Amino acid sequence: MSSSKPENLGSNLEVDPAVLEDSVADSYDSSGFCTSTESLTSSINQYIFENGRRYHSYYGADKNLMPTNETEQDRLDLHHEIMLLLLEGKLHLAPIGPDPQKILDIGTGTGIWAVDCADIYSNAEVIGTDLSPIQPSWVPQNLKFEVDDMTQEWSYKDVYFPPIGHSRFGSYRCLKPGGYLKIAEMEFGTFSDDDKIDNGFRTWMEYLEEACEKLGRPTITAERVKQILNDGGLEGIQVATMKQPFGPWAKDERMKKVGTMTMFTADSGSTGYGLALFTRVLDVAPEKALAVCKAGAADTKNKNYHMWTPFHVAYGRKPISADYQV
Ligand SMILES: C[S@@+](CC[C@H](N)C(=O)[O-])C[C@H]1O[C@@H](n2cnc3c(N)ncnc32)[C@H](O)[C@@H]1O
Repeated sequence: MSSSKPENLGSNLEVDPAVLEDSVADSYDSSGFCTSTESLTSSINQYIFENGRRYHSYYGADKNLMPTNETEQDRLDLHHEIMLLLLEGKLHLAPIGPDPQKILDIGTGTGIWAVDCADIYSNAEVIGTDLSPIQPSWVPQNLKFEVDDMTQEWSYKDVYFPPIGHSRFGSYRCLKPGGYLKIAEMEFGTFSDDDKIDNGFRTWMEYLEEACEKLGRPTITAERVKQILNDGGLEGIQVATMKQPFGPWAKDERMKKVGTMTMFTADSGSTGYGLALFTRVLDVAPEKALAVCKAGAADTKNKNYHMWTPFHVAYGRKPISADYQV
C-alpha cells in the first residue's frame, strides 16, 4: 500500500559522520540537540475539543481533521520556514514574473505565506482563505483574509496564482488564462538512503496513508499531482520533488537545518496529523492513536534512523486561449 521510493531525486542524502560517531546513544538529546524548541462574527468561532486538541467546527467537525489551536499554529509557522529552506528562499517556483496582479492562497492557515507574498508583490491584491479565522489582523494593506470553505462554489475572479491543497474545486474556472495553479504537499511515504526505517515513524505514516485512502484522498505522489494538473486542463506542468529529512542527520548544512526544524515539529505534527484521522477514520482507540503518534515522533529523534519524505511542489498554467468563465 505504501508508495514506492521516488527515483531521480539526485544523489543520496549523506549522513553526517558526527551523527554516527556514538552509535550506542540513540537519541539526539544526548548529543546536544534539544527537542523543546476581525472582521468576523463570533459565530464563526465554533470549536470542538477532542483528545487534548481544539478543532474548528463552524463548517462541520469533519471538514478539517487537523486542529487549529495555538500549538498547531506554531507548527504551521515553523513549517513555513522549513519550506523556505527547502525551496532555497523561494515562495514559489512558478515563473509568475515580477508583477502578478492577484494571488489567492486557499487553506492559508496562519496566513504566513500570504503575508510574505503581499510584502514581496506589493502591487498584487492578495487574498488568503481558510475555514478557520486564525490569521493575524495586522497585515500588509494589499492582503485580506476571508473565512471560506474551498469545497463550496468559488466566486473569485481573475485569480493569478492560487496554491491549493487537497481540493481543486473552483480553481480552473476562476484562474485567469495564463495564470498559474500551484499545489505543494508532503507525500505520506517513509524512505531512507540506508534503509533503516522499519520503525514507529513508518507505522505512523502507514496509518496516515491508510486513513487518507479510506477518506478518498490518497496521498500525493509526483505522478498523481501531475495527473491532477493535467486532468485540470493546465499546461507546462512541472513537479519538483525534494527530500525532506526528519532529524538532524544529514551532512549537508541546509538539509541538516531542515531536518532539525522538522524534528522540532514532530511532537505536535504527529498528533496534529494523526489523532483525529486515526480515531475518527480508522476507529483506533484514543490511547492507541496517541501511542502511534508518540512513537512516530520519537523516531525522528533517533540517530540511527535517517528518514526522509518526498515533498512535492507542482504547478501548471491555464492556457492563454482558454475561456474565462467566472
Ligand atoms: C496544513 S494547513 C496549511 C496551511 C498553510 N497553507 C501553510 O502552508 O502553512 C491546511 C489548512 O487548510 C485549511 N483547510 C482545510 N480544509 C479546508 C477547506 N475545505 N476550505 C478552506 N480551508 C481549508 C485548514 O483549516 C488549514 O489551515
